[in-house]
Amino acid sequence: MIWWVLIPLLWFLTFRYRRRRMYQLAARVPSVRELPLIGAAYKFMGNTEDIMSSLKELSYFAIENGGLMKAWLGPILYFISVDPVDLEMVMRTCLEKDDLHRFTRPVIGYGTIFAPVSIWRQRRKILQPAFKPKIVESFVPVFARQSMKLARKLGEAGGREVKLRPYIGSYTLDTTCETTLGVKINAQDDAVSPFLVELGRVTQVVTERIFRLWLQPAWLFRCSPQYRQQRTSCEVLHGFTDHVIMKKREELKTQQKNPKADRTIDLSDYDSKSFLELLIHFSGTEGGYSNEELREEILTLIIGSTDSTASTIGYALDLLAKYPHIQDKVHAELDEVFGDSDRLLQKEDLMQLKYLDCVIKETLRLFPPAPFLIRKVEEEVTLPSGYVLPAGSGIAASVWGTQRNPKYWGPDADAFNPDRFLPERVALKHPCAFMAFSIGPRNCIGHQYAMMSIKSALSSVLRFHLVKGTVEAGNKPHIRVKIDVMMKAVNGHELTLERRRLRRAQQDL
Ligand code: HEM
Repeated sequence: MIWWVLIPLLWFLTFRYRRRRMYQLAARVPSVRELPLIGAAYKFMGNTEDIMSSLKELSYFAIENGGLMKAWLGPILYFISVDPVDLEMVMRTCLEKDDLHRFTRPVIGYGTIFAPVSIWRQRRKILQPAFKPKIVESFVPVFARQSMKLARKLGEAGGREVKLRPYIGSYTLDTTCETTLGVKINAQDDAVSPFLVELGRVTQVVTERIFRLWLQPAWLFRCSPQYRQQRTSCEVLHGFTDHVIMKKREELKTQQKNPKADRTIDLSDYDSKSFLELLIHFSGTEGGYSNEELREEILTLIIGSTDSTASTIGYALDLLAKYPHIQDKVHAELDEVFGDSDRLLQKEDLMQLKYLDCVIKETLRLFPPAPFLIRKVEEEVTLPSGYVLPAGSGIAASVWGTQRNPKYWGPDADAFNPDRFLPERVALKHPCAFMAFSIGPRNCIGHQYAMMSIKSALSSVLRFHLVKGTVEAGNKPHIRVKIDVMMKAVNGHELTLERRRLRRAQQDL
């Protein structure tokens, strides 16, 4: 009988002894109140809004305690950092993503964003040339046409309070599918586009799996309704992508393209090609990516791009509604660039919209769509702050906290003030203090694409509309947020649009 007690006790003592260095190093780092056995896991109960509130609270705790805090989730040790000096080192040295990302595997397999480093290196190399500025710029006509359509759709719904998120999500899905797959899925015309619906559902399942511990073991998950939902969603997403890939392969074969890998496309003679075509080409055509690898990369781009870009557009409109004097400045700049013309936007216009650029960066600073980036610590890391991260722990870069850290952004760090990013004023105290697109070798490969798409959408909507909501009393904006893989607004950006002018282009589109 005594063995029933002795064996677990021995196992526990050996387990603690093997990890003694981890406990020693962790003990030096501040933490919030922790409970026996579960540590700080109690902070992550509740719905996705409650979880996001806890993550914000922990970030503020790290700000007040020198930039780093720890949280035990049962036997698993995580650190949260809000210090760009430390994070610069972390994001350069810890390249492996946390195990939690494995729940995205049924959907995107080993797609670049969450792939293990051994696979990621090659994938990133193949992806890199597809994101050259010249190629990304060639997508501006797609952004211009689709964003004009968004402005018209919002105009049709205007005059009353509407949830903007579904409209914006359809815009980003249309632009992403057109630039990634080379196909028009017309999500803006079809509110129940199966691709859009299943994308939303599968994102929800992945989030639930991350935060609902009982859904994590594979055998328990297989008994859940969420598993059946995931299978249905993946069938739709994979089926559609596979079909487009096969068609593109056949098309390329009949065009008898050069079957060898060639990363040196003639950019001066470049007309808009989809990322799919580019990846087939850059990976080596017939001897390159398999259809499955192509699907993984293409779905990664679609998922990585759609929600993050849509959230940023939504937050920016919300913030402009809260601060009408800032919206006035955006309107003034748009009028200066477009005058009375109802023409489509061109890439030269994007360069001139400097104040809008500041508004987008300030939006991304206060409301980063990816507020936490989690990496594995595989080998001990000594941080510039002096703390040592033990091997076997995880480190969360709190983008939310870093970008609101008064040490780097001043006492008004929580205030919405796009002027901070004016070219003559922007002297960041540390280059990594702004990290909405991450930093280091695994940073966002699509950040220029994202800026262009966001700017196109905001400029087209705001050229024709005033956006109205509850005006914020102070300079700190309040938007209720939840964590749903990305950070999203709880109310889906309920705002009212009033038409500024009636444009021929809007009626014609
Ligand atoms: C506002 C929009 C966007 C934001 C805020 C954003 C943010 C990020 C962040 C923070 C990461 C690093 C994730 C991590 O370390 O876990 C990332 C990676 C990535 N993003 Fe974005 N992203 C945006 C738009 C896009 C777009 C438009 C694309 C593609 C068209 C894209 C493609 C990717 C890819 C492929 C990676 C993985 C890079 C790698 O691991 O090498 N993103 N993004």
